[in-house]
Amino acid sequence: SHGMQKSPLALAFESIAGSRTDAIVVPPGYTAQVLIPWGTPLNDSAPEWSEDLAMTPEIQANSVGMHHDGMHAFPLDDASASRRFIMAMNNEYIDEDALWAPQGGPTNMDEGKRPADEARTEINAHGITLVEVEKSDAGVWQHVRNSSFNKRYTSATPMELAGPVAGSDYVVTRYSTDGTMARGTNNNCANGYTPWGTYLTCEENWPDIFIKDEGREIDDDRLGIPTGRGRYGWETAAGDESEVDGEFSRFNATPRGASASEDYRNEPRTFGYIVEIDPYTGARAVKRTALGRFRHEGCWPGKLVEGKPVVFYSGHDSRNEYIYKFVSKAVWNPADAPADGAEADRLAIGARYMDEGTLYVARFDADGSGQWLALTPDATTPDGGTLADALGLAADDHAGIIINTCDAADIMGATPMDRPEWGVVDPESGEVYMTLTNNTDRTEADTDPELKGDGDSIAAPGTGYATAPANAPNPRAANEAGQIIRWREGSDPSSFEWEVFVFGAAASDADNYSGLTESNQFASPDGLCFDQREDGGILWIETDNGYAGVADHTNDQVLAVVPAALQRAEGAAAVVSGDNQQHLKRFCVGPNGCEITGIFPTADRTALFINVQHPGNWPAGDDATQATSGNVRPRAATVVIQKQDGGQIGV
Ligand code: FEO
Ligand code: CA
Ligand code: CA
Ligand code: CA
Repeated sequence: SHGMQKSPLALAFESIAGSRTDAIVVPPGYTAQVLIPWGTPLNDSAPEWSEDLAMTPEIQANSVGMHHDGMHAFPLDDASASRRFIMAMNNEYIDEDALWAPQGGPTNMDEGKRPADEARTEINAHGITLVEVEKSDAGVWQHVRNSSFNKRYTSATPMELAGPVAGSDYVVTRYSTDGTMARGTNNNCANGYTPWGTYLTCEENWPDIFIKDEGREIDDDRLGIPTGRGRYGWETAAGDESEVDGEFSRFNATPRGASASEDYRNEPRTFGYIVEIDPYTGARAVKRTALGRFRHEGCWPGKLVEGKPVVFYSGHDSRNEYIYKFVSKAVWNPADAPADGAEADRLAIGARYMDEGTLYVARFDADGSGQWLALTPDATTPDGGTLADALGLAADDHAGIIINTCDAADIMGATPMDRPEWGVVDPESGEVYMTLTNNTDRTEADTDPELKGDGDSIAAPGTGYATAPANAPNPRAANEAGQIIRWREGSDPSSFEWEVFVFGAAASDADNYSGLTESNQFASPDGLCFDQREDGGILWIETDNGYAGVADHTNDQVLAVVPAALQRAEGAAAVVSGDNQQHLKRFCVGPNGCEITGIFPTADRTALFINVQHPGNWPAGDDATQATSGNVRPRAATVVIQKQDGGQIGV
């Protein structure tokens, strides 16, 4: 219904062929340059990278982190917006074999005690990298070593808690006996940004760094805190003679003291949030707990309207989990958007819009309508009681609702989705797109009538829905290819309308609802970017695919589509289907082993920045399109795609 007044832009490249090589592929006339791979020194405290560099805690703390994911550009002023800015980037997780390659691999990864300095190095390889980058007159991008903006936030960096959970008994630890501080952020997957110039980084698979063998509560079970041994065994370094202030002990949340202030039973409750960072000052990061606690993929601002609340959308990336939105109590004042790089207390503005408000979870109904269900202590459940009562909480325990966000959502009757990943908002229409990447635990419709996730029957506390039957927005059982859903807000804050935008699938897939062909088949959509142009916008789609139907034909990729050019055909399963599917084009294919994630265009649209995460044997050098003839120590890296003629990307 939008885009009627003007003719939308046309994609001026031919869809490229699928590829399975150790190189990036882009259309003819484009270049692809490697920028800030893992281990790039941010300052002179770290040496130049080399294949045989033995990583240490100090070197890693002063170098670009590992496994690049979500990212965003923060210009220093209008004039610099397209050639010099601060990049904020997530370093989601690590490849231990690449990290410890010179030593022949990690020590005691599966059993026994991890060496303290190995654990510290791995902790420092996670988190966020802030780095100034600039384009030379020759059009080559480079980072500015020793820039005062360069900084790392790691899984050990002290951070503030803010919002309903801050200062509550739920987050009292030996480290923060008043429950106001946390140490580190972890598994920062996708990202967001705010209208006031801050970066949002989102804690996704953080439960796996903890263990809790006894004293488990329902949130520990629901979020999957492991028992026995953590993902990297960091807790096994506890008791090392060099351990400072429980830096490793804190990963074991089993109660050991007489009270919470004597141990780390609540340490996992200081994770699972949206974290706000001011890239211009590098000030202490703040965990905004009002936006809920779960495996947050990312966080995207809704359409901004003066005098209306500020809205953020967020997804929980696990099978049969939910989509959320946060609506601020304060209404938007455009005076709260400082100019790029201008001096301002951006985190104080963040507190105004992100610490007080209402968290909602989505119920998608089969008729294309939807309801946002408020997660407040006094919300009325489908059974007619209050949400606080249903969770066994005090009537005013907002912090308890946040700690138990997922169980609260179960009780309210939210719709279990096919792993919500990235979202993005069309800034003109306000329409929201979100990737539902795949779900192998989706069963045929009506096979589990007791587990509809529709409020008729509710998952037991701490369990969620291990499987859920196919429903209207998630119609394919054992869904390996995923889909992208789209919705628009209704006239009141609790209603919306939705449709499926595109279904992923292989040409050979019988459930190829969008009719994709060899030239645009994809599966497991993940990253998204709505790239607004004067004559419409390009929706960029990135993939993280393990589905053989597509993976046998191509590595992970970037596709482009112009939503304003598409009309949904009567009765079609999705907007992209029939003739529309020819407007979905493959723009870029990544090297073997990687996923493609993280994305932003420069302000002038002459460069598109993407990330290559967990490549198998790449990069071979500065040119991302070149494969090595031998083996390299693989490094996640940013790739900058530009046109040889300096023109705008995609058109
Ligand atoms: Fe880290 Fe959901 O991808
Ligand atoms: Ca990833
Ligand atoms: Ca992702
Ligand atoms: Ca993914």
